[in-house]
Amino acid sequence: MIAPSILAADFARLAEAAEAVKGAEWLHVDVMDGHFVPNLTLGLPVVEAILRSTGIPVDCHLMIEDPDRWAVGYAEAGAHNVTVHVEAAADPVKLAHDLRAAGARAGLSVKPRTPFEPYVELLKHYDTLLVMSVEPGFGGQEFMAEVLDKVRRARQLVDAGELRVLVEIDGGINSDTIEQAAAAGVDCFVAGSAVYGADDPARAVEALRERARRAM
Ligand code: DX5
Ligand code: ZN
Repeated sequence: MIAPSILAADFARLAEAAEAVKGAEWLHVDVMDGHFVPNLTLGLPVVEAILRSTGIPVDCHLMIEDPDRWAVGYAEAGAHNVTVHVEAAADPVKLAHDLRAAGARAGLSVKPRTPFEPYVELLKHYDTLLVMSVEPGFGGQEFMAEVLDKVRRARQLVDAGELRVLVEIDGGINSDTIEQAAAAGVDCFVAGSAVYGADDPARAVEALRERARRAM
């Protein structure tokens, strides 16, 4: 699965940005509050407008403080997957339950330096694990290959039937880095600059998917 990140698109033309990647499995939307990360992007009203403008399932990545208070609103608005950061959530078990009750998949994200192992039990309540392969906050950063150890471990647990999460990776994914991520066991690849920086975003999505498929 490829999830183009509209962070790298023209914010004044988000409907067109979604239309430009019609063949993508998910549309990744980065919500940043200027507190959890040192960048500010968009919030619920803009996500609602995106949801009205596209049929692509929307994948909300919440880089915000207090997701316990705000995340469910995105699920109620109709987001397909809502991911919160484990570093920010106060009661992640309740949050996962509430997100699912509101009709969304529940995602849990770990920053590059956050370990995976302490959260294996917690992940039993979640549908998606989002492994950050850059420090969250900005697009266009370099891929951190060391996070692939977490991907391999998660893949093992999923294949052994101990976890049921979809493994997603976010940050620095492009035609050079996607193969190693695919080989490590990623199911869903977020790509911002590699898609919207290309002349033809739809073809960039196809090319990334093809490269990942070959490396699997
Ligand atoms: C970064 C965001 C990413 C970002 C990825 O904090 O979570 O989704 O858009 O951008 P690229 O693919 O350019 O690294
Ligand atoms: Zn993201």
